[in-house]
Amino acid sequence: MHIAVLMGGWSAERPVSLMSGAGVAEALEANGHRVTRIDMDKHVAARIAEAQPDLVFNALHGSPGEDGTVQGMLDLMGVPYTHSGLATSVITIDKVLTKQALVPHGVPMPGGRIVKSAELFSRDPLPRPYVLKPVNEGSSVGVAIVTADGNYSDPIWPDAKGPWQEFEELLAEPYIRGRELTTAVLGNRALGVTELIPKNGWYDFDAKYTDGLTEHVCPARIPDEIADACKALALEAHRLLGCKGCSRSDFRWDDERGVDGLFLLEVNTQPGMTPLSLVPEQARHIGMSYAELVQAIVDEAIV
Ligand code: DAL
Ligand code: MG
Repeated sequence: MHIAVLMGGWSAERPVSLMSGAGVAEALEANGHRVTRIDMDKHVAARIAEAQPDLVFNALHGSPGEDGTVQGMLDLMGVPYTHSGLATSVITIDKVLTKQALVPHGVPMPGGRIVKSAELFSRDPLPRPYVLKPVNEGSSVGVAIVTADGNYSDPIWPDAKGPWQEFEELLAEPYIRGRELTTAVLGNRALGVTELIPKNGWYDFDAKYTDGLTEHVCPARIPDEIADACKALALEAHRLLGCKGCSRSDFRWDDERGVDGLFLLEVNTQPGMTPLSLVPEQARHIGMSYAELVQAIVDEAIV
């Protein structure tokens, strides 16, 4: 099969996507496919039309590769592609729309409200501690935790560096103490549960992509009840949102509250495929190599 791997682009996660795309392209070649690597720019439609692939493997992260824009373009062009489609991507890239889609169905997610960044300088939007995050970024880009006693990221210090300088609006969510868990879904199967234990502070961009900064415990050493709940919720979210192929659901678990302390934070429709990424790691744990995972994502796209 001739497969075009779309990667790069211009979101804040460009470097992550280049790593995902490089790994995917190499694996596809090892699987015997002919591969065209396409670093996405504004001429991407012309490049795809020229390459005439049988399938696009979408290895983009962030906008516009994860927000429905690229999916709509490929729909118009009639080129099949991996991962979720247009409508799912539009909803899932947006953390507020995702809550609106899932919470009425009983999926536990933290409450939250949109705040104007300028207002953060005069008052806290929620009782501390809370989390500020852009509505539609990935990889923890632009996320700040405002701790109970205030720290460098305290937004009431106007000269403090933080996402309030870059984003006009932010989503404020209560900070959930406890542990960081994640579950990948491939097709109709939840692959496992991984706990992420960052060595310094929290699971931010550096902790995600610097080898050695985060311990990945796979399978997570948590009670069966919590692991089962993560898998059931990840599958339910994948289904309710209409995800296709592969997705990854991220959780916080307040381990002092049992299963009532488990909250889904978000669903990633274009989960990372880098050497440190979590979906390949969970696949490996169940005996599926990186190349087999990439092939399974291709197979899901052409059924
Ligand atoms: N947004 C990054 C790529 C992830 O979810 O893995
Ligand atoms: Mg994300």
